[in-house]
Amino acid sequence: MSNRRNVAPNDLSAFWMPFTANRQFKKAPRMFATAKDMHYTTTDGRQVLDGTSGLWCVNAGHCRPRITEAIQQQAAELDYAPAFQMGHPKAFELANRLVEITPEGLDHVLYTNSGSESVETALKVALAYHRARGEGSRFRLIGRERGYHGVNFGGISVGGIVTNRKMFGTLMTGVDHMPHTHDPARNAFSRGVPEHGAELADQLERIVTLHDPSTIAAVIVEPVAGSTGVILPPKGYLQKLREITSKHGILLIFDEVITGFGRLGAPFGADYFGVTPDILVTAKGLTNGVIPMGAVMVTADIHDAFMTGPEHLIEFFHGYTYSGNPIASAAALATLETYREEGLLTRGAELSEYWADALHGLRDCPHVIDIRNIGLVGAIELEPIAGAPTRRAFSAFLKAFEAGLLIRTTGDIIALSPPLIVEKSHIDFIAETLRDILTGLE
Ligand SMILES: Cc1ncc(COP(=O)(O)O)c(C=O)c1O
Repeated sequence: MSNRRNVAPNDLSAFWMPFTANRQFKKAPRMFATAKDMHYTTTDGRQVLDGTSGLWCVNAGHCRPRITEAIQQQAAELDYAPAFQMGHPKAFELANRLVEITPEGLDHVLYTNSGSESVETALKVALAYHRARGEGSRFRLIGRERGYHGVNFGGISVGGIVTNRKMFGTLMTGVDHMPHTHDPARNAFSRGVPEHGAELADQLERIVTLHDPSTIAAVIVEPVAGSTGVILPPKGYLQKLREITSKHGILLIFDEVITGFGRLGAPFGADYFGVTPDILVTAKGLTNGVIPMGAVMVTADIHDAFMTGPEHLIEFFHGYTYSGNPIASAAALATLETYREEGLLTRGAELSEYWADALHGLRDCPHVIDIRNIGLVGAIELEPIAGAPTRRAFSAFLKAFEAGLLIRTTGDIIALSPPLIVEKSHIDFIAETLRDILTGLE
């Protein structure tokens, strides 16, 4: 006889939820039952407009038939093929499609299952690349304050989030950080990319000089920092990072887990800003969030540096059981086809002015201390309640959910990133709902 407790299927205690206030949630659960296009339906039958594309990932909107069918068909045809020393056609086809839409020069693709794994993969490629070329002294990785690069050890080390240091200790050694670019004193209420702060990129030159360029492998940044509150790069900043890294033989990694696949109104942040990195990290929108998958694109120079030695030997000692999984590959191919057919990778550019007007129209609402926008991303920063940081934004989140709008909050910042199929009427709904909520907020 089992000595296990007999737990009812709807008991909420066993699932320790990720990045969630578990005790608060389990007292008043918020559950989705179905989704279609721009909306979720809750288990109690309410419609909720998805103002965040799930977690910045459902770029084509929910339950798109082409993607659903591709997954169903693939699951019945070839469910799994070993990722190591074996292949299947769709993984190769997908790599070719990705290379076609990424900036020129990024010619090779490694697959992962998440943004966090894409980051680890990129960092490992960078370290191993320098070793392969006989420059093993390049072991340092440079990130940025307030950077978010997922939850694994490499990512939280190069990331710049204080809680990770408080909760998990020393992390990886050999890491340094540039300052973040959030400067409300000079840039509050900027429309699009802020004017001031390109000189912050010079801090990289200082760090490089401090450690000596010969010790530095790579610099990793999000072109637009999403998860820590939508922090934009000042005009000219990313160009400067590119110049400094190129000058010193340091690889530049763009973490485009959020900015990839049309979020800024261009296929990638690299396109939007006209700056091409050596390594481009993606996940989320790659499969429209439906099946876990990430991809890391690298230059031919990086790839070719590994293609030496006896041909029967593995060139790069890395990979996942599910790298290029057939069902994920099928989902990604169908996603890319949906983006292409509907022009979604550039649709954000057409709507970004309307989006900016709607958001900046909230400037006079109570508690608002900054509003930021780019492409189809927005942030509304609220004055924190004295002695209770994050509480004001969290209650805005709860009230928005009750009012039929899904938003995301980080600290006291409301972040918005609707699916790229959003219509003007949805944008109006988002703005009107937020106005009501902010007006009634403590
Ligand atoms: C820039 C960036 N990198 C990495 C990640 C981690 O992705 P995942 O949650 O799929 O591991 C995220 C997730 O939000 C992200 O925004």
